[in-house]
Amino acid sequence: MDSSIEQQLVQRPVPVHIAMIMDGNGRWAKERGMPRVFGHREGVNTVRRMVETCGRLGVGYLTLYAFSTENWGRPQPEVNALMELLVSTLRAELAKLHENQVRLHTIGRTADLPVACQKELDESMRHTANNTGLNLILALSYSAKWDIVRAAQGLAKQAATGHIAIDDIDDQAFKGALSTCNFPDVELLIRTSGENRISNFLLWELAYAELYFSKTPWPEFSEHDLYTAIQDFQNRERRFGKTSEQLINEI
Ligand code: FPP
Repeated sequence: MDSSIEQQLVQRPVPVHIAMIMDGNGRWAKERGMPRVFGHREGVNTVRRMVETCGRLGVGYLTLYAFSTENWGRPQPEVNALMELLVSTLRAELAKLHENQVRLHTIGRTADLPVACQKELDESMRHTANNTGLNLILALSYSAKWDIVRAAQGLAKQAATGHIAIDDIDDQAFKGALSTCNFPDVELLIRTSGENRISNFLLWELAYAELYFSKTPWPEFSEHDLYTAIQDFQNRERRFGKTSEQLINEI
């Protein structure tokens, strides 16, 4: 932790919602002659660093892509190890998360997860439900296309039964039907390990996000890497489709 940099960062707007694609665990482990799972275990230390740093900086929401619907296709031992890691991490970290006022949420098809995982998640969410600090959102068995299709089906059902008019299906109604309906849209997306892709993550919610791609693998992503990403975000001009001149006139 570098408190002087943190003090500087909070002088300017810090992203309200940061999303992270935690990539590179497997490659990082293989480069060290270790099994992929070693990289995931090391990756938990980065999760802890990010949660603590975002909490200190006053970030409102941190969404982590912990397991995609596509990840079910990985070798079964790796899938099992990731599920066990999730349970053991929640057990080990819950007291600290609670003490730090972190509130836990999930998005995704969590009914697909092993029962032990679902129980641990439910218990952790219930335990932290009244916390008022960082909202930590774990995307588990999640894909953006799944969520968008699910939202469209929900709205279509409501229209078919006359509960809403088709013309009332607008941007806001659609957002309200997504599993992220209670969270603001993402302002900064960070992906580690050198891949410049979105990989089916939060497609709707990223519409106006600033994208930041780091070459550092997730297990090595440090507080300083996060500071750099936030500084980069703070130096960008966010025009939302307008011109620079219009933005100056709005101030
Ligand atoms: C991607 O790296 C990472 C994952 C699919 C899993 C991320 C999980 C963790 C960091 C641990 C558990 C998380 C929590 C929230 C407790 P990769 O395996 O695709 O890396 P590669 O591209 O190098 O193969």
